[in-house]
Amino acid sequence: MSIRIAATASGAYPNVRARRLRVNASIRDMVTEHRLHPSNFIAPIFIIEGEQIKEEISSMPGYFRYSLDLVLPHVAELFDLGIRSVLLFVKVPDELKDNEGTEALNPEGLMQRSIRAIKEKCPEMYVMTDVALDPYSSFGHDGIVEDGQIVNDETVRVLSRMAVSHASAGADMVAPSDMMDGRIGGIRKALEFEGFEHVGIMAYSAKYASCYYGPFRDALDSAPGFGDKKTYQMDPANVREAIREAQLDQQEGADIVMVKPGLPYLDVVRAVKESVGVPVSVYHVSGEYAMLKAAAAKGWLNEEQAIIETLMSFRRAGADLIATYFAADAARMLNGK
Ligand code: PBG
Repeated sequence: MSIRIAATASGAYPNVRARRLRVNASIRDMVTEHRLHPSNFIAPIFIIEGEQIKEEISSMPGYFRYSLDLVLPHVAELFDLGIRSVLLFVKVPDELKDNEGTEALNPEGLMQRSIRAIKEKCPEMYVMTDVALDPYSSFGHDGIVEDGQIVNDETVRVLSRMAVSHASAGADMVAPSDMMDGRIGGIRKALEFEGFEHVGIMAYSAKYASCYYGPFRDALDSAPGFGDKKTYQMDPANVREAIREAQLDQQEGADIVMVKPGLPYLDVVRAVKESVGVPVSVYHVSGEYAMLKAAAAKGWLNEEQAIIETLMSFRRAGADLIATYFAADAARMLNGK
C-alpha cells in the first residue's frame, strides 16, 4: 500500500505505464530502438593451404579452417545469407615464416590467391583482409623484431607494401590489426601512390592486449614466441587513449575504426562512437565465441538467445558493424531459417 501511494504521489503513474509498449510482439517491433541485419556482420574466415580441408578449430567448436577450394562455396553461402563482408586470415606454414614477414608480400601467397579467387567467384562480396605480420612472423609478433623490440617504422613500411599487395589482388578494404603508430597514414599514402585510392582501410584503432585472443592464436598458430603484445596493443584499463587512437586513425585516413574485443569493452565502443565521424566496428573475438559456446554446450545458456542478445548489445553500444564468428548463425536466425 505504501509503495502504491509513493508511486501515485510521483505523479506520472497510473497515466504513464511503460508496459503498454511491451504488450505484444507488434508494438515491441514498432518501438524497438536497434535492429540487427545480416549486412551488419563481417564474417572472419581462416584459410589454409591444401585441398578438400575443413578442419574444426579445437578451441572454437563449430568454427573451421578451410582450404581455398572449400572457402569458395562457403563464401557464396554467406552471401546468400545476406552477409556482405568477409575478413580474411591465412595460416602460414612454419617454413615460410621469418622475421620480416617476407611471405606476406608474395603475390602468389595464400592470402593473395584467396582474394583473387573469392572476388572472381563472388564479386559482390566485400573482401577485407588482415594486415599484420603475426601469421608470417617467426616470432609470432605483429611487427619486425630487433633486439627483442618490435620496431615501429620498419614494420609500417612492410605493412604498407602488404596492403598494396592485397589491393593488387583485389581486396576492397584492408584491416591493419598490428597497432603500430602511423600505419594508417603510411598505408593510405602507399595505396594512393599505387593507384588504389578506392581501396578502404578499417583500422583496428583500439585493440587491447587481451587474453580473449587465445583461440584465434590456436587457429592460426600465431601465439607470440616471446613476451607479450603490451608494447603495441592497449592497456585494458584505458578508454581516453582509445578515443585518441581512433581520432588519430580517422585523421590519417581510416574509413572505419574498430574496437576489439567486444563485450568487455562496450563502454569503449560508445566512447569512440561519440568522438569520431566514421563508422565504428567492433570485433566480437575468438575467446568471446569460445566462452559462449562452452556455456551453451554445458546447457547453461540458450545459445541462440545468447548470440542475438550479445550482438544486439554491440548495436546498442554504437557499433555499425560487428565482426563475429556467429555471423552465419545469426544471419540464419534473422532470416528465420
Ligand atoms: C593479429 C590478430 C589477432 C586477432 C585478429 N588479428 C590476434 C592478436 O592480436 O594476437 C584476434 C581475433 C580474435 O581473437 O578473434 N594481428
